Amino acid sequence: MSNTLTNSAPWLALKSHFETIKNAHIKTLFEKDSKRVQHFTINEAGIYFDFSKHRITEKTVELLLDLAKEKSFEARRDAMFSGDKINITENRAVLHTALRAPKGAEVFVDGHNVLPDVHEVLDKMADFSNKIRNASWKGHTGKPIKNIVNIGIGGSDLGPVMAYEALKYFSNRSLTFRYVSNVDGSDFAEAVNDLNADETLFIISSKTFTTLETMTNAQTARAWALKQLIDPSAIARHFVAVSTNEKEVVKFGIDPQNMFGFWDWVGGRYSMSAAIGLSTMIAIGPDQYHEMLKGFHEMDEHFRTAPLNKNIPVIMGLLGIWYNNFFGAQTQAVFPYENYLKRFPAYLQQLTMESLGKHSTLKGENTDYQTGTVYWGEPGTNGQHSFYQLIHQGTRLIPVDFIGFKKSLNNIPPHQDYLIANMIAQGEALAFGKTAGEVRKEGIAEQLVPHKVFEGNRPSSTFFLDQLSPENLGKLVAMYEHSVFVQGVIWDINPFDQMGVELGKVLAQNIIPELQDKQKPIAHDFSTNALIEFYRQ
Ligand code: F6P
Repeated sequence: MSNTLTNSAPWLALKSHFETIKNAHIKTLFEKDSKRVQHFTINEAGIYFDFSKHRITEKTVELLLDLAKEKSFEARRDAMFSGDKINITENRAVLHTALRAPKGAEVFVDGHNVLPDVHEVLDKMADFSNKIRNASWKGHTGKPIKNIVNIGIGGSDLGPVMAYEALKYFSNRSLTFRYVSNVDGSDFAEAVNDLNADETLFIISSKTFTTLETMTNAQTARAWALKQLIDPSAIARHFVAVSTNEKEVVKFGIDPQNMFGFWDWVGGRYSMSAAIGLSTMIAIGPDQYHEMLKGFHEMDEHFRTAPLNKNIPVIMGLLGIWYNNFFGAQTQAVFPYENYLKRFPAYLQQLTMESLGKHSTLKGENTDYQTGTVYWGEPGTNGQHSFYQLIHQGTRLIPVDFIGFKKSLNNIPPHQDYLIANMIAQGEALAFGKTAGEVRKEGIAEQLVPHKVFEGNRPSSTFFLDQLSPENLGKLVAMYEHSVFVQGVIWDINPFDQMGVELGKVLAQNIIPELQDKQKPIAHDFSTNALIEFYRQ
């Protein structure tokens, strides 16, 4: 094995630097540097990013930036923005940033400027969204559409459902939105249980239009709709598609006029700013959708142009490397103190783990270092009454991202003050803890003292924004997208393919006929055979 990363000078320098800092307490780091907050805060692109409560010094950041330089980070980033085929395993460009670039910009793929195509689709989406929102698009029986059901999975579901929940405040409340993803029939059944087909629009969202779950749900939706509407021509008024695969869309029976396209240079988990966002646009309207794209673009520009030491996604990505590869942290928690962001951690799980869960470098060698941190989270304050115990007093190191907003969308005093006080307090408690001496001063019985000690030294970042809005949601999503890219560059892996999901899909295709035909001979391993037999009985 000839991995260059762990032999590189910056990596070795970080390794020896780690030895000098691994036992340092965040409290001491603050005592030693009265300007620590100024040194470790970036207030750019409308995001106040405080990373002072990390187990780092200025030297750490300097060495991590050296590592980025060693991996030619800037050249790799510029290659992404300019449409080079950096997704080398699939020979594709990676241009989710072009989806939110303004009209008139130019980005070329194989000599073709893709921006006019992007805006043509956006205009078509806007036209369609307006028709649904102003009720001029009529269903088969002449009634306007009241319910929108997005059928998709992975990136064709998680982005839309997260954005719908996040931006519900801005949504048209006379429309109902449902999201069906699971191949479990109960997901579909419950989603349409109280809906009438003549007022329902299905958006079949699938980049490939071949995904088992989505196609099964789409067929079930068609059967459900036709049971009520009878006439097959009704499909044209009640089904639209979002896909890159026009052939399969047509085969399914959807008029290509009712198809919203995107391109192979948009990865599934990077597609919420592509036509996959159609349900979002219907919910919040084209103008606010464009505000969201503006937010994405603003963060893209920050990432593309800000100096690396003032670059939010760069610092986030490098901190991820620091904890994963030097402290051996296995997970990263993300806690939005904003209830509307309740699906944000689930969305981030696909973005981060499908992108970074790889053991093979770009050259096809096995890494000799850990990649792909496990992301997880729940909105605050709920998590505080559940799993925070383990973060405060457990034996594992779990870096935390806190995300908060100064203003609530629903100003009901004193809720917002309580919410944000809790977010700030959690970061303080994690970092500074409570010593045995402090516990004793409270007159606590001696035998309880060890149980009441908080060691502190638990790292966290705080992202503070003004108020949740389409624009700010766009910024947050782009910020995490780019932090994933940074980690991919350092680890020398391809964050834009997902070969690891294939094997299970293929094996399921073998097993389906074996479950359906009880006589079919089976020849798997003993455990798999026994499970199939159990189901068959
Ligand atoms: O199975 C993983 C995956 O390929 C994801 O990357 C993707 O977002 C999801 O399936 C859905 O794919 P599609 O949009 O093609 O249906």
